[in-house]
Order: sequence, then C-alpha cells, then structure tokens
Amino acid sequence: MASEESVTIEARLSDRDYLRPIPAFIGQANVTDHRVYDRFDDFPEGFTEYAELLDWEDHWDEVFDGSDPPFFKWFVGGQLNASVNCIDRHLDDRQNQTALLWEGEDGDQRNITYGDLHREVNEMASLLRSIGIEEDDIVTIHLPMVPALPITMLACARIGAPHSVVFAGFSASAVADRMRDADSELLVTIDGYYRRGEFLDHLAKTNAAVDEVEHDPDVLVWSRHDEPATSLRREYTHVQTKLADHRRDRVEPVMRDAEDPLFLMYTSGTTGKPKGCQHRTGGYLAYAAGTSKYVLDIKPGDTYWCAADIGWITGHSYIVYGPLALGTTSVMREGSPDHPHQGIVWEVAERHAVDIFHTSPTAIRMFMKWGEEHLESYEFDFRHLTTVGEPIQPEAWNWYYEHIGHGTAVIVDTWWQTETGGHLITNLPALWDMKPGSAGLPCPGIEPAIVDDAGQSIEGDEAGNLVITRPWPGMLQTVYGDDERFIETYWARFSDIDSDDWQDWTYVSGDGAIKEPDGYYRILGRLDDVMNVAGHRIGTMELESAVVEVPEVAEAAVTARVHEEKGQVPDVYASLRDGIEPDDGIKADIIAAIEAEIGAFARPSRVILVDDLPKTRSGKIMRRLLEDISNDRDLGDTTTLRDPAVPEQIRRQVQGA
Ligand code: PRX
Repeated sequence: MASEESVTIEARLSDRDYLRPIPAFIGQANVTDHRVYDRFDDFPEGFTEYAELLDWEDHWDEVFDGSDPPFFKWFVGGQLNASVNCIDRHLDDRQNQTALLWEGEDGDQRNITYGDLHREVNEMASLLRSIGIEEDDIVTIHLPMVPALPITMLACARIGAPHSVVFAGFSASAVADRMRDADSELLVTIDGYYRRGEFLDHLAKTNAAVDEVEHDPDVLVWSRHDEPATSLRREYTHVQTKLADHRRDRVEPVMRDAEDPLFLMYTSGTTGKPKGCQHRTGGYLAYAAGTSKYVLDIKPGDTYWCAADIGWITGHSYIVYGPLALGTTSVMREGSPDHPHQGIVWEVAERHAVDIFHTSPTAIRMFMKWGEEHLESYEFDFRHLTTVGEPIQPEAWNWYYEHIGHGTAVIVDTWWQTETGGHLITNLPALWDMKPGSAGLPCPGIEPAIVDDAGQSIEGDEAGNLVITRPWPGMLQTVYGDDERFIETYWARFSDIDSDDWQDWTYVSGDGAIKEPDGYYRILGRLDDVMNVAGHRIGTMELESAVVEVPEVAEAAVTARVHEEKGQVPDVYASLRDGIEPDDGIKADIIAAIEAEIGAFARPSRVILVDDLPKTRSGKIMRRLLEDISNDRDLGDTTTLRDPAVPEQIRRQVQGA
C-alpha cells in the first residue's frame, strides 16, 4: 500500500482511538440497524432471530426453559438435524457451489460442492451405520485439516451421534483420556498428513491410543492418499476401501431434539483433567449461524477463510457449522503457514479471491515478524478481518488493518470460549467504530458484567472478573458426565446455587477484563490457572501432572511467561527426589513427558530444576512468586514463606545475579 495512505491511518489512530468502517462496507453489511440490540433485549424471544435462520423439522414450543438452573434449555420441543441445515437445504439453490475449498500442503486441492458434500457425508454416514454406530454413540475423531474431518463430523451429525474431535496435535494419551471419559467406542483417524513438508505418521498415535484405552474400540482409518497404509493393523477398517460398498447410499437424517447433544469439545481447566464441554444441537447451531451472519458478515456468495484448526472450537463454529449453515464457501488448509513459503497464506487468498479472513493474534505477530515483503507479490482484497483467541496489542491490530486490510477492511476482535459456542463480545461491524485493543461491545442479547472477588459489580474502568449474567443459546449444556463439575467450575463462585430462579445464576468466564467508559470491553486474559500458548488453551495443572510422571521429579510448578510472539509460554520448575542430581537428561525426560501426555504444542520453553519450590508455611506452592521470576518482575513479599530464601535462590538461578 502507498506510504502516504499509511501515514493517514496512523494520524487517524493517534487523533482518536476509533476507526470507522468504510461506507462501502456499511452499505453491504448484513446488519445495519442498531435496533437489533433492542430486539435481542427482549429476552429470551430475541434469540429466535438466530433460530429462524435454520430449517426446523418441528418448531419449538418454548424459547427458553430456565426452571432448573444452570441446566438451561433452548428452543424446547424443536426438532432439527445439523447436517440437513449445513447441506441438504442448500441443494436446490447451490448444488454446484463450492462448500469446502481445500488446499493440501503438498499442492493437492479439492473443490467440494454442496452436491459433493451431500454425497460424501451420506456415504460416510452409511458406513458409520454399517459398523453399528447408533444415535447418541460418541464418536472420537482425531483428524487433521483434511476434508475427511468435516465430512466425518457432518456424517455423525446426520445419524445423531455426537462427535468429540481431538485436535490432531494432541498425543495418544490425550486421545485415550478423552475416549475413556466419553465412553467412546469408535475412533476415526488417518494414516498421516503434511506439516512443513514432512509426512507425519499419525497412525503411530492411533496405535498407542488404542493400546492405552482399556476397552477395545473400533478404528476407522482414512488415508491421506486413498491407498491404505501398509502398516494398518488388521483390526482397523480402511475408510476409502469400505466406502466403495456405500457408493450412492442415502441416509435418512435423524431428527434431533433441540437439546440433544451435537458434540463434545474437551478443554483445559484448572484441574489436571480436561472437561468435555457438551454442546446442544438447536441452540448451538442457531448461535453459530447467527453470529456468522451478524458478526462475520458472511453471505452465501462469499469465499470465507478461517485459518484456525477444526480441532478447536473456532473451527467447529466458524469453519464448519456457522458458514455451512449459511451456505457459503468455506476454505480450509492443511499444514503450516510458512510452508512451502512465508507468503503461502496470501497466495491462497489471492487464488480463491477470499473475501473474509479470520486468524489469531499469534499468527498476526508471526506475519509481522516475517515482514511485509511476503505480502507484496499477492493481490488480495479482504472486506472483513477477524481476530480471536488472545488479546491483540494495538501494534499488531494496526499492522493487520494496514497491511492485510489495506486500510479498508473492517476488523472484529471476537471474545468467546469453547464453552460459549460462539462470540459473546465483539462489535457488529457496520454499527460501531473499531478500537484497537478492545474486543468491543457485547453481542446482541449478551449481558456481561465486571465484578470484584466478592461478586460486587465494579463501576468505572477497573479490572475485574468477566461474568455473563444472562443465558444464551450457544452456551455449553454441561460438562459431559459431571454436572457437579459444571456447577462448580462455571457457576458456584458468583451464583446463589440454591436458587431455582435463573436470574440468580452468573456464568464465570475465568477471564479478567475492563469495561471502558465507552462501554467497550478490554480483555486482559485468564485469571485462573489456564494459559494461552499461541492461542492454545493449556491448564497448568495438566502440565504439572505430566511433569510429575517423570520418576526423578518430586514436585513441579508451571508458570506462564509472557512471550512476544506466542502470547504466553510455559516455564517448568521442578524439584527432584532426594539424592538425585539435576542433569540435562532429566530435563529432556520432562519435555518428553509433556509431549506424550498432551502434545508437542504444549512443550515448555524452559525447564528449571530447583532445590526446593517456594511454599507457604502450610506447604502450598507459591506459583505467583515463580511467575514473577519467569517474567523478570521484582519479588513481592516473601516473609510469610516457610523458607524465605528459596525464591531469591531461584531468581538468581533464572535471572542471574
Ligand atoms: O482468555 C480468553 C481467550 O481465550 C480463552 C478461551 O479459549 P478457548 O476456549 O480455547 O477458545 C478460544 C477461541 C474462542 C478465553 O477465556 N480469548 C478468546 N478470545 C479472545 C481472548 N482473549 C482476548 N481477546 C479475545 N478476542
């Protein structure tokens, strides 16, 4: 872009903190009328506007049932099928329009039309049926970014079998844990996939996961190149071979109650065990479709690219369910954004004339670091840009706006969580000015608040706990198999848990935030023991449990260190059993344990072997002090510790004298 233009943008930014969407954007936007907020304030009726975007087999009798808080029900009595909403209902108008536009890292490409998707999902649904999968069986899917992933998800949805997708980067143990927790008797996986030019052997993880679960699951293996891998175990079923028996099969979609679960998505919390967030069919799909339309401004004719992974909630809601429910073209890409070269993202955007692009602050910081020269030879023209997953610093925001958006695209910074199903805080793009660093205003119908630790509302722009005081259709139903944990984790802190009036119940996000005087929310990050590493949510307790698996380790504490590119990275502090001398082999074993229990993406940045961990007199590990050390901050008051000399000793070890 011309340098003169960038000067103007900077001038506008320093003049005031706000930027207006350009008139050409506003003129074409899906939502241009501020009264949308009034309509949604009519609780719960307002949310029917989202439900009406879907096709229902049976209309709901009641919009919201809050009689058994916090087990809220949405669109009660309604019946629908998610695969019908994402595929069948588009066939009359766009049988030949591309639904999924897939780019393999090795140069493979596929244009899967809505007609193709209908055929392939039906055939896969028929295959699932033929091996005995029935309504309500939970299917674990451990697939990377290949068409097999959305096809398998939608095939599950067609027969009413909730899916539980595990991000491909998770280890065998993580897959086994999730299968065990969900009593899942089918694992759908693949022989391998490409990342940075290398063909990763995914089957090794499959074998190890199968060996680790006590029950004997069925295993369906897709192959990345149609031919079955020679190393396939005899008891596994090769999908492409078996699909030949199901050519042109049609499977009558199973109508699901609005409240029947559509999927589980495991996420990290403050304990060592990930929680299965259970999402309902009707409310979730309505919310994903509604926010895709209102926030992402998706129209059927658009080419939309969310560069997240379908293995996380962002990909579920905003690569698969939301965009396909609206009948648009959704791009998906295998592999890493720096392979085969650091301009590949922009090459793909140019090739497919992508209109809307969606990524994370970590990726934006990476693109910035790689430099503008990687953008220069590509012509891309985005109308709308999204960011999600972490707070975005104004510097990265400005770079995104200027270099990726050319100063004309709108940017929405979307705050939400695995649990929330869809966006909760972000601007409807044509209605509000953009403000770098602030997620924006609450979405229609959403009522956030900032409260202090006693639950009192904070007036003025001070930091506090971000809570949501009114239910919404996209919210999780429960933690799979553990209603108590659901209440304990998300509600108990600020709710009157004996009350059966839903208005006495408040959802706790675990994030800290500030409500600025203009009503915009600035998200500060997690207040609990959850860190955000390159947009991946990881519980410190999960890491600690993995570290103490190493036999030499006596105790461990993990802290988050602020990292310029990844946002946060884990530092591991470990003390060893009596008589064991620290050495590099133990450090390597600790890293290996984390990779085996969780996955390579959770690898710590530093492992620090210490004589002792700082503890209170009652023996509680003071992680806060370790976090100060990791982040080069001064140590606070250490006089109440059992041994006040310990943190100073560790500080010297980490920071030098
Ligand atoms: O801390 C918040 C951060 O990501 C957490 C949710 O992570 P996860 O469940 O993996 O879902 C990520 C994608 C929705 C939140 O508790 N987070 C998410 N979006 C933002 C954010 N932090 C700041 N700004 C955001 N826009």
